[in-house]
Amino acid sequence: MRLFALAASLRQASLNRKLLHVAAGLARRHGAEVDVAEFREFTMPYFDADLQARDGIPEAAQALGRRILAADGMLLASPEYNYSLPGHLKNAIDWLSRIRPVPIRGKSALVMSASTGPIGGIRGLWQLRIPLEGLGMFVHPDMYIVPHGNDAFAADGGLKDPKAVERFDALVRDYLSAASALARRGV
Ligand SMILES: Cc1cc2nc3c(=O)[nH]c(=O)nc-3n(C[C@H](O)[C@H](O)[C@H](O)COP(=O)(O)O)c2cc1C
Repeated sequence: MRLFALAASLRQASLNRKLLHVAAGLARRHGAEVDVAEFREFTMPYFDADLQARDGIPEAAQALGRRILAADGMLLASPEYNYSLPGHLKNAIDWLSRIRPVPIRGKSALVMSASTGPIGGIRGLWQLRIPLEGLGMFVHPDMYIVPHGNDAFAADGGLKDPKAVERFDALVRDYLSAASALARRGV
């Protein structure tokens, strides 16, 4: 099982990057191979149909599509911005949707969010499901959130609360088994 892992934050001290690394570590412990990317690797212009007509799909969007296609599934950590997904992530999804075949179609994803607030980014994840599922992605039904993210991570990057780690581990395991069943089906 090969996973592509991406945190949709550009910030150096991103909580979502930390959360993604925790998820990648758990997935590796359960035998997955994880390709962790930085969102900055895929800097692309705002979607513009005129730009697409003139120059085609930007290389950064195509590179992102290739990384997704090379994996069986995806770990995706996204901050919540104003009750929704960040604009740069939606922009990347919009460019991906112009590639044929659409690289995320038929792929699975486990989505997660860390937030500084008490709700942990769950509202943003519900919004994120809409374009992903609309494009044919199998978004795992259960999602993982970290509220009060500024206090949740230890200096080594791990989650401080052992019960939270236990819950996250069970979710990652559950996702891996669903993702491998979907991958075996050849979707
Ligand atoms: C533009 C903007 C909007 C935000 N909106 C929300 C929000 O709606 N809900 C929330 O819980 N946190 C919100 N936050 C706070 C984020 O949870 C916090 O900045 C978090 O650290 C961002 O993730 P990152 O650390 O991975 O960059 C917002 C932050 C920014 C910069």
